[in-house]
Amino acid sequence: MREQLQRLQENVTAELLQVKTLEEVNELRVKYLGKKGELTQILRGMGKLSKEERPIIGQLANEVRDFLESKIAEYQQAMKAKEMEQRLLQESIDVTLPGVKSNIGKLHPLHQVIEEIEEIFMGLGYTIEEGPEIELDYYNFEALNIPKDHPAREMQDSFYISPEVVLRTHTSPVQARVMEKMKPQVPVKIIVPGKVFRRDDDATHSPMFHQVEGLVIDKNIRFSDLKGTLLSFARQMFGPEQQIRLRPSFFPFTEPSAEVDISCVICKGAGCRTCKQTGWLEILGSGMVHPRVLSMNGYDPEEVTGFAFGMGVERIAMLKYGIDDMRLLFENDVRFLRQF
Ligand code: PHE
Repeated sequence: MREQLQRLQENVTAELLQVKTLEEVNELRVKYLGKKGELTQILRGMGKLSKEERPIIGQLANEVRDFLESKIAEYQQAMKAKEMEQRLLQESIDVTLPGVKSNIGKLHPLHQVIEEIEEIFMGLGYTIEEGPEIELDYYNFEALNIPKDHPAREMQDSFYISPEVVLRTHTSPVQARVMEKMKPQVPVKIIVPGKVFRRDDDATHSPMFHQVEGLVIDKNIRFSDLKGTLLSFARQMFGPEQQIRLRPSFFPFTEPSAEVDISCVICKGAGCRTCKQTGWLEILGSGMVHPRVLSMNGYDPEEVTGFAFGMGVERIAMLKYGIDDMRLLFENDVRFLRQF
């Protein structure tokens, strides 16, 4: 048995010199030291030994096992390292290759314009308010003096979610929400940027677009305050030479009401295709807050007056940047967006 054990040790040692992979080392371990391996086979013969020989051979067997275990562990380590090295060689990274350039994004032109509008009005002492895009029919229409069945509802073809809930068709419902919240405090001096929704879709209309609403309520607010504010806005937005023109109009929540034009940014008022030879471009609706809207929302029209306006952000962006199709703003083509 002594010889058998020595042969075992020699064989394993010799075979280990031949192995090339971790798998081979593991197979070798099973073959010689495993439960049904050669060492176990040899030790079966222990029973035939004399009492004196048994502990001696037992000790030798242990020594051989320990020796082989550590030898095999050594090879396992070595094979692992070798395989790792090979993988690293195959998967090597060439640090001299040019890197992948990651493009830095920036604000969408519409949001650049919204921020610009906000800056201008903050400079005039306004604060910024927001309201829900999914709105109650009550705020979108009723609280703005547009009762059910009023023909003015047809001006704003709407997406209804239920008879009482609508995707807001304008930012004006936030007028009512803010009045309700602040009544009867003055001054109210807010702008409201946000998304609005109408059933419209062509080169100059999108089912989702943006407005910035304005609302001022205080003692002695007059139509001339509205006019002066909008002129100041137009000049800061489009240049110091800008003129504005107010045309009589109708909105159920303002009285009197006016549509506001700016002198054409393309031809400077001379007449061209963009302004349809008129020299003027419409950018917003406005007016003095209707007394009924004031009283419905908690203000006394005998005590205070106000003006309101709502401008279309896409329209302003298109005029500012000379964009001729609104859909370009929503296609998210980076070749287009990169220009701004
Ligand atoms: N809400 C109106 C619209 O979307 C615009 C407007 C706002 C008019 C405020 C007057 C006062 O058409």
